Amino acid sequence: MSEIPVYPPSPDFVSKAHVQGLEGYRALYARAKEHPEEFWGELAERELFWFEKWSHVFEWNPPYAKWFVGGKTNVSYNCLDRHLTTARKNKAAIIWEGEAGEQRTLTYQELHRLVCRFASVLEHRGLKAGDRAIIYMGMVPEVAVAMLACARLGITHSVVFGGFSAEALRTRVQDLEAQVVITCDGAWRRGKEVRLKAAVDEALGADCPSVRDVIVLQRTGSDVPMQAGRDWWWHALDQDARENTPAVPLDGEHPLYVLYTSGTTGKPKGIQHSTGGYLLQVLMTMKWVFDLKEEDTYWCAADVGWVTGHSYIVYGPLAAGATTVIYEGAPDFPQPDRLWRTIDKYQVNILYTSPTAIRAFIKHGDQWPAKHSMASLRLLGSVGEPINPSAWEWYHRVIGKGRCPIVDTWWQTETGAIMIAPMPGAVPLKPGSGTFPMPGVLPEIVDYEGNPVGPNREGFLIIRRPWPSMLRTCWRDDQRYEDNYWSRMPGAYFTGDAARMDEDGYFWILGRVDDVMNVSGHRLSTMELESALVRHPAVAEAAVVGRPHEVTGQAVVAFVTLKKGDWNREELVEELRQWVAKEIGSFAKPEQIRLTDGLPKTRSGKIMRRLLREIVTSHTVVGDVTTLEDINVITSLAAQHDDE
Ligand code: WT7
Repeated sequence: MSEIPVYPPSPDFVSKAHVQGLEGYRALYARAKEHPEEFWGELAERELFWFEKWSHVFEWNPPYAKWFVGGKTNVSYNCLDRHLTTARKNKAAIIWEGEAGEQRTLTYQELHRLVCRFASVLEHRGLKAGDRAIIYMGMVPEVAVAMLACARLGITHSVVFGGFSAEALRTRVQDLEAQVVITCDGAWRRGKEVRLKAAVDEALGADCPSVRDVIVLQRTGSDVPMQAGRDWWWHALDQDARENTPAVPLDGEHPLYVLYTSGTTGKPKGIQHSTGGYLLQVLMTMKWVFDLKEEDTYWCAADVGWVTGHSYIVYGPLAAGATTVIYEGAPDFPQPDRLWRTIDKYQVNILYTSPTAIRAFIKHGDQWPAKHSMASLRLLGSVGEPINPSAWEWYHRVIGKGRCPIVDTWWQTETGAIMIAPMPGAVPLKPGSGTFPMPGVLPEIVDYEGNPVGPNREGFLIIRRPWPSMLRTCWRDDQRYEDNYWSRMPGAYFTGDAARMDEDGYFWILGRVDDVMNVSGHRLSTMELESALVRHPAVAEAAVVGRPHEVTGQAVVAFVTLKKGDWNREELVEELRQWVAKEIGSFAKPEQIRLTDGLPKTRSGKIMRRLLREIVTSHTVVGDVTTLEDINVITSLAAQHDDE
């Protein structure tokens, strides 16, 4: 392992860091491990506002955890109101840039006012704590306003990424039984309009009886039909808004949001997050990992429709009183230097993005970042997928000018907050490693039986002890929560990832061990894609696998057998790609669809995806094929590849 370079933090960085040196990190980690209740209890008291203090820090009825039991708090209050009595009241909370270059800055006072106004709008529509809202908007400041207004009243929100189709939106509205949908007429993406309200109309057209109101923010100004009695313009309702809507004291365990994510079945699961524990751990990791300073301008260039956007565009930065940048459009629009230009324009100090974005920028060429100084940057972050060492080195050298530590952050929708990542003033970095766990997080790498594997051995990544921002359950589906996360390794949380720990105790995440793919940092389920494909009238069977891809990490390859019929095979391939876009969203479109006469199956009829994976990866089959029912299917698939 000696060829792996190590980057210790610079003395200058260490001297100003919140946590200094490995000893600093180790002391914090040890305290959290040995005295978790005192550790989290003290932080909760010092870092958050509570209307009523909790009676005890932690309750564990495996696999159900409760944190800050009996405590009453409010996320919106913690993100807004408590800053208004400090020097932060006129500090920029949100700096927004539209894709066409428009700018808006909202101070904490202004954001508070907008959130109070919109909360009163929701109240006037009869919404109250315990109700549910679907938020299906573009990246405009109002998406944060909508989230914070829901949080203020205890309305559980579910943000649906604007790239999801009407079909995907409908299943989420139905599962959540949402009373209200908050949307925009449209959103701008690469100069084109994504017609969000049209998708809402299509989604609600069939079988969404729970939805009473649709509130529409005007963004693009395009013509949208409004259904009388159901659809309301945001600006019209705002006429009667009031500006001092109090934050409702909510139980620490109150469901702040549900975020749907792909699992190993055809149906996305609603990951349910809490209020107090969630906010505390998101806030603490914001400080520990991003080493946040009062004067920082912080930019997480993700979409608010994913958990990264929830925790590290909206809730984490605002709870910390930071300035968070929100950018509406595509990162390479109108030119590949949009990100670098924007960093200089707003003097961004911390940039948080994904390996896929970094690899795409590498392809565009160094001339684009070279046009900009980026001297304001002091810290870089990576999230969503393993970062290959060469992309890490490029990010470090070309964007960070060798001066900025890179925090590679491993976590999941389910974990709520960053789990494994370096504290940049404490931990020497190794490109490609997330380094060490956060305080209070006890990860382990184990074999099939749950026994720890030794250094440098691959195994399943599990987490031994509940943590404050952990998912609480799957929305109205405790069984799924138990089966998915707590049944494989008794007493431990099963992440679904494989990992390895090196001789220095550094964690290296290797990727998923289940049928979940990671394409451009977006989580896609094999089963979800397959069920979408077999809903098409021409398709008999479908098997989906990921193949390694130099930019997106993985790419979707679908093997499809057809029902009897006279199909135009070329047209059908394109039609099936469009079909997936319609069923899930265009980001899920398979890169390749291969029509085949049969799929490799075990004697019991299970599709052997492992073999298909080998075909798309190495183009040969080297694994054990003795359980195969029909070896000819495999040989003909491999031969088909040779033909191409
Ligand atoms: C899966 C979770 C966490 C927010 C974005 C994705 C992979 C995530 C890393 C990383 C290696 C990573 C894992 C994980 N992943 N971050 N730094 N290094 N792999 O959230 O959609 O819930 O996906 O993304 O495989 O299980 P998500």
